[in-house]
Amino acid sequence: MSGTSLNWCYEQDAADPLGGYKTRFDIPDGLIYLDGNSLGALPVGVAERVSDVVLSEWRTGLVKSWNEADWVTLPLRVGTKIATLIGAGPNDVVMTDSTSVNLFKAAAAACHINSGRTEILSEPGNFPTDLYMMQGLTEFLGEDYTLVTAPRDKIVDAVSDNTAVLVLTHVHYVSADMYDMKAITKAAHDKGALIVWDLSHSAGAVPVDLKASEADFAVGCGYKYLNGGPGAPGFLYVAKNHQETAKQPLSGWFGHKAPFDFVDGYEPGDGIKRMQTGTPGILGASALESALDAFQGVDMAKVRAKSVALSDLFIRLVDEKLAGLGVTIASPRDSRMRGSHVSLCHTNSYAVVQALIEGGVIGDFRAPNHMRFGFTPLYIGFEDIYRAVQTLENILKKKIWRESRFNEKSAVT
Ligand SMILES: Cc1ncc(COP(=O)(O)O)c(C=O)c1O
Repeated sequence: MSGTSLNWCYEQDAADPLGGYKTRFDIPDGLIYLDGNSLGALPVGVAERVSDVVLSEWRTGLVKSWNEADWVTLPLRVGTKIATLIGAGPNDVVMTDSTSVNLFKAAAAACHINSGRTEILSEPGNFPTDLYMMQGLTEFLGEDYTLVTAPRDKIVDAVSDNTAVLVLTHVHYVSADMYDMKAITKAAHDKGALIVWDLSHSAGAVPVDLKASEADFAVGCGYKYLNGGPGAPGFLYVAKNHQETAKQPLSGWFGHKAPFDFVDGYEPGDGIKRMQTGTPGILGASALESALDAFQGVDMAKVRAKSVALSDLFIRLVDEKLAGLGVTIASPRDSRMRGSHVSLCHTNSYAVVQALIEGGVIGDFRAPNHMRFGFTPLYIGFEDIYRAVQTLENILKKKIWRESRFNEKSAVT
């Protein structure tokens, strides 16, 4: 379509079956927030819930709240809520630790199941923590173990008879390239390897069916599309067939079969429980539990359809309005191969993003020269996309990004 108009966007917003869900979020007036892929917006009700946990359950209930407020089952309750968004059974997911720590535990468990094989396979340019944690794990496991990487178009060929586990991110954090989970999992299994999927950019954004894909393990973040707040706990999935054999090395007391027996010897808990480590952070967990209510009654197929429509609109407007302004599209144009964000490249991406933020449009910068824009269908509309590209066009045409204040790097980009 050429010459996409603001009126067309209004019509799309008026006809949008998810349009009403924006009221489930508390977003500052006038802000266009395209960074839900980094830190999700605040869902309505979370602040009140956390305040209630602090003032009622903690201040008044004190230690009794472990039982009376059921804090002790919070990791499993939240896991069950997340399970509905990622095609997992209700007892197959636990909310625990951070994604980094869960990567370590899941990959270590996979290496243990597949002992005899000593290679962990990933892709170069995977999110750094995925690679760093696997470097740490292989060093820890001993000198036989190695981390091998292969580009995504060669990843299947790179699975060898020595590959214990593939550790892949389903939707790439920069490019938004999305793997075919079922096909890659099958290819890994055909060669005797297990797989750990990092769903940090998938959970709550794109439909995922872990059971149908026969995935072995999966991990992901609570603070991106799940909107659990800064540093929210992560989650960990283990397929049913591995749950009673999975052995994870961070064998803390919350993963014990009977933590309150206080015995000296470690015995893993039943099923998914064993993937926990220490005492869960109840404030963060409560925020995430409450945030997940924003997904109540939401059809993930509709979320996906709108995410594709928003991303396609963004790409179309970039083509139409930013031609000749030094911007290239760094994400797949084919929506079937793309997650829920789009990256652009520009030689001065950092400064452009800072100018955008001052202009009321929040995206983010990823080194060396990417600008990322996340499309969260529950609170972003078509008009938002139009206005965001219009703001970007103005910044690029007038070279507003050249101003010195936009070129001073902050610690977090
Ligand atoms: C793919 C992926 N994995 C992991 C993380 C972060 O892990 P953690 O929550 O442990 O910092 C991110 C953060 O952006 C990510 O994009």
